[in-house]
Amino acid sequence: MKQGFFITGTDTGVGKTAATVALMTYFKRQEQTVVGMKPIASGCENIDGVLKNEDALLLQQHASMPLSYQKINSYSFLEPVSPHLAVDKEVIRLDKIIQDADFLSTQADILLVEGVGGWLVPLNNQGDTVETLATVLDLPVILVVGIRLGCINHAHLSYRAIQASGVNCAGWLAMCLEPEMLKIRENIATIKKTIDSPLLGVLPYSKVLDFELLANNIFFD
Ligand SMILES: Nc1ncnc2c1ncn2[C@@H]1O[C@H](COP(=O)(O)OP(=O)(O)OP(=O)(O)O)[C@@H](O)[C@H]1O
Ligand SMILES: [Mg+2]
Repeated sequence: MKQGFFITGTDTGVGKTAATVALMTYFKRQEQTVVGMKPIASGCENIDGVLKNEDALLLQQHASMPLSYQKINSYSFLEPVSPHLAVDKEVIRLDKIIQDADFLSTQADILLVEGVGGWLVPLNNQGDTVETLATVLDLPVILVVGIRLGCINHAHLSYRAIQASGVNCAGWLAMCLEPEMLKIRENIATIKKTIDSPLLGVLPYSKVLDFELLANNIFFD
């Protein structure tokens, strides 16, 4: 059975990748081997004829072992748009992602899968969303809350949607994105009251992302 987590967020650009790499760092410190996967990435660069995405490359770089890029990023699209709009030639099929995830999970103790955007982002025109993907992958979910203005509402809405999906929410991470934000602690305390799952860490603002520092602030029971 796969061991790992599905990492979702309150929105795009809230720190899912930063949190995933911090979690990889955390698990490696616990003497566990890890792989990270970004199955669907829109916003890619053509590198020697292969579309590659910054997030997926970072996850590849932080894995415990060398892995083929194509397994880490099952679907890559050039334009940074919602996946279902990026798909002109290739339709996203969840069974392909499941196959890649199953393969990766045989390579390491822990598999971390970064979603795309937030929980209800459409993946294709057949009704599949990030929610569907997390459900079929059957991994507990970690919600990354980007701490910025509006985060209380986004966190509550996302958590309610995750709960309604019936998947197991292992916890949430508060990602401090803005050093100048007012009342950061109070915002986090308010969110804590609306989310029943444990707060796994308050990851500090880190101007030049320091994954060791972020990992220092992750705590599982
Ligand atoms: N703790 C932090 N301190 C400072 N900046 C951060 C922190 N975490 C994330 N960021 C910055 O916020 C931006 C978004 O982070 P990240 O790419 O991890 O978000 P994401 O949710 O994975 O985005 P996407 O939806 O594009 O995958 C990046 O520029 C990143 O460097
Ligand atoms: Mg990302």
